[in-house]
Amino acid sequence: MNIKQAKVSDCLAIKDFLHRSWEDTYHSIIPKKLISDILSQRHSKNELLSEITDPSVLFLLAKNSRSEIVGLTTLKIESDTDLFMGRLYIDKNHQKKGIGKALLLESLRFFPKHQHLIIEVQEKNKNAIDFYTHLGFLMIAKSEMYIQNKVIKTILLTKIINT
Ligand SMILES: CC(C)(COP(=O)(O)OP(=O)(O)OC[C@H]1O[C@@H](n2cnc3c(N)ncnc32)[C@H](O)[C@@H]1OP(=O)(O)O)[C@@H](O)C(=O)NCCC(=O)NCCS
Repeated sequence: MNIKQAKVSDCLAIKDFLHRSWEDTYHSIIPKKLISDILSQRHSKNELLSEITDPSVLFLLAKNSRSEIVGLTTLKIESDTDLFMGRLYIDKNHQKKGIGKALLLESLRFFPKHQHLIIEVQEKNKNAIDFYTHLGFLMIAKSEMYIQNKVIKTILLTKIINT
């Protein structure tokens, strides 16, 4: 497994990976129609290309020996002190092998001066909340996401990454 920054040429493989991951992760949490609407809006080729080329976004991919994506994460610089992790997804057949933690730790190496890492997780995504809690994240607030007039309850977690 190797971890590298995403390139424009990875765009279609990222789109396929995210479509699979969203269906695997959210099929029992978010209605199917809403998942497909979110995927077509937020994970279109153009949206992904703009993230890959955005200098305020770090987009990391974990690939296996066949160069297939097995995990990815995106971190956005929110301010001089705060980073926001927009995504962390590991392929369902590769979870619990240390790849999520490796992606998280590798992404933090790019930001030695930022102090807080913030994450927003769906309130019903217990697996992810347990994972982040295990890694020392603390809940700071309950929040809500509005997608096409539908409310999705979320929680915000944070961790101090540099002092
Ligand atoms: C949540 C997720 C990213 C975790 O990644 P992972 O590769 O399976 O986790 P790792 O193997 O790197 O685990 C790292 C550590 O967390 C622990 N851990 C992993 N999942 C855990 C869980 N559900 N509860 C408690 N601890 C957990 C591991 O035991 C390991 O502990 P250690 O470092 O003390 O040995 C992965 O399950 C995933 O992609 N889930 C679906 C997508 C998702 O919900 N993403 C988050 C929303 S953005």
